[in-house]
Amino acid sequence: MSFSDDIDSVSNLSRRQFLAAAAGAAVSAGVGGLSRSAHAAVSHNLPPLPYSENALEPVISSKTVGFHYGKHHRAYVDNLNTLISGTEFADMELEAIVSATAGKPDKVAIFNNAAQAWNHTFYWRSLRPKGGGEPPAGLKQKIEASFGGFDVCKKELANASITQFGSGWAWLVLDSGRLKVVKTGNADTPRTQGMKPLLTIDVWEHAYYLDYQNRRADYVNAVVEKLINWEFAAANLTAA
Ligand code: FE2
Repeated sequence: MSFSDDIDSVSNLSRRQFLAAAAGAAVSAGVGGLSRSAHAAVSHNLPPLPYSENALEPVISSKTVGFHYGKHHRAYVDNLNTLISGTEFADMELEAIVSATAGKPDKVAIFNNAAQAWNHTFYWRSLRPKGGGEPPAGLKQKIEASFGGFDVCKKELANASITQFGSGWAWLVLDSGRLKVVKTGNADTPRTQGMKPLLTIDVWEHAYYLDYQNRRADYVNAVVEKLINWEFAAANLTAA
């Protein structure tokens, strides 16, 4: 399994969206434009949000999304471009950089910024306005077979998000034919451990602190019930 197998691979999405933006096509409203210049064909770019910055309210405020996307996510992309300039990674796809640097102490800065760039684009797509609710039938059947029930899956996802110590991520993944919930610290991604992510929840404090302060559980439970994009997860499962 490789990153390139993903449906709407993050890098492919980025490239398509960049090309669309470069051609003057409309992109998501309120995103604030792309970060890269005309030379971005060989640089990593910040993909537009798939919705406006206020579209996740009232669960996640436009202020949080504005900082999270416009400052944090953008910084990972910009830092990555700076770090790989002139290196063997300069012309590599994002997913390839993540795979090539994972677990290598001398490449940890590049890994952290590359993985965070990828994780964040995946996170934005894991949410949608008026999300939550029931998964599509095929995914729901797989969830019930793997967890014993949809409510169990949601509880495990919320619990992993709430109990991740410090910064990190909770994920619904496909692992050896079964779905399961895992959590990773900092920039780590289950992709480098042979699992296929279906969706993720960012539990870094920057994802919720402006809105919820120390009440991570309130953020997590609201996201699970009201914002999760089960259709995105279902599409990733279909592509697996
Ligand atoms: Fe984040």
